[in-house]
Amino acid sequence: MHTRAGSVTPEVQVATTGLIVRNARIHPTRGLPVDPSDVLVEGDRIAAIEPPGSSPAGDRLELDADGRLLSPPLVDPHVHLDAVLTVGEPRYNESGTLIEGIQTWAERKPLLTHEDVKSRARTAILWEIAQGTGLIRSHVDVCDPRLTALRALIELRDELRDLVEIQLIAFPQDGILSFPDGKELMREAMRLGCDVIGGIPHYEWTREDGVEEVHFLFDLARDTGAPIDLHCDETDDEQSRFLEVVAARTMRDGMGGRVVAGHTTAMGSYNDAYAFKLLQILKVAGVTIVANPLDNIVLQGRFDTYPKRRGMTRVKELDAAGVNVACGHDSIMDPWYPLGRGSMLDALSMLVHVSQMTGRSELFRAWEMVTMNPARAAEVEWGVAAGKPANFVIFDCVDEAEAIRLRPAARWVVRHGRLVAETEPARSVVHESGGAQPVTYRRDEERGGRAGPPSQANAGQDRATSGEGVER
Ligand code: FE2
Repeated sequence: MHTRAGSVTPEVQVATTGLIVRNARIHPTRGLPVDPSDVLVEGDRIAAIEPPGSSPAGDRLELDADGRLLSPPLVDPHVHLDAVLTVGEPRYNESGTLIEGIQTWAERKPLLTHEDVKSRARTAILWEIAQGTGLIRSHVDVCDPRLTALRALIELRDELRDLVEIQLIAFPQDGILSFPDGKELMREAMRLGCDVIGGIPHYEWTREDGVEEVHFLFDLARDTGAPIDLHCDETDDEQSRFLEVVAARTMRDGMGGRVVAGHTTAMGSYNDAYAFKLLQILKVAGVTIVANPLDNIVLQGRFDTYPKRRGMTRVKELDAAGVNVACGHDSIMDPWYPLGRGSMLDALSMLVHVSQMTGRSELFRAWEMVTMNPARAAEVEWGVAAGKPANFVIFDCVDEAEAIRLRPAARWVVRHGRLVAETEPARSVVHESGGAQPVTYRRDEERGGRAGPPSQANAGQDRATSGEGVER
């Protein structure tokens, strides 16, 4: 069966025995004019990446990317699926602070049911898939003697395996030492099938308890073989310094590459001399840092008047120091963040703004923070190359920088060689007196330089003549 782009339906996909994507600009483009390629998929693997027209479509499903960006799927390495879509239940967080968020969640938590968690989480997961996310790491609050949310999300994780990979983190929202039976609940969560060990040392009652919590997490990792992904120093308190304890245990236990620290917003308030030391030991330890700019730009700095701190970890400096850095969505319409639609491009847009990563080459580095970097941290094979799993997304844009600027539709989302989501891009016109004027938000098209969907050939010419291309 031969199917042209734009007329694809899931029913058609079921009938095909393979897939070929024509004329795609393959990530990483690095802003350079690259020749379009065809991506040939056999089964659940990429069989070949070859010049356009090299292989006939045969009975494969054929998608014409027409010069669009073909990227590894987006990764959301930090979201709280148990709390998604609960905003306003039982009340709104009117102060907007992290503490009122935790208090509001504590009121909602006793009302959780198995079906409530599954249906909300399922909705948010579909939002993420439709926008190109193929791997989700979710924290699940285990400070609940019933472990209701965890049982529901383990079930959902397994049910949705064909659509998206989900890893679940045992997250002690109210602390481990500061919550009754906290240690046993963490152990029970791992016995039930949680993938990753979470934590929240800065939330314990004392510094000493926070340090003991970190040691408990690493001991549990040694006993279970699971990796660690904890909330760490999510505060504007420059005295909150648990990340150094995490880095030291990571080195001593040989857990480099298997430890992730989320938020780490206190780093935005550390003095530069201490921050410099911390960057060095994080790099040597191999700890990944996940920034969550959507939540933290609204949650932090709430005790400040002016100047008001941004409350973000040092994304640009960590990246420059060689630390693996990623970007998470964190909340989707919950007590901490009433907005959000599960778009990793929204999160990344906020990250480049708050971190001031708007240099041309920095935009391309930022793209790694929602694709390859978080996949590496999650120990999942990622990337577009022959022999790799056929997981990729064709975005309605010419390259990664335009993806951050326009936050375009994920035109086609492919997982294990199967089309799992598609979106028709929006089209706009302005009705001028002389007729309808198309609006594309692309300066070259609207100046008459090129028209229609993204064209690699024209985009390449534009950059070649303007000298705009950059190397990383
Ligand atoms: Fe979080």
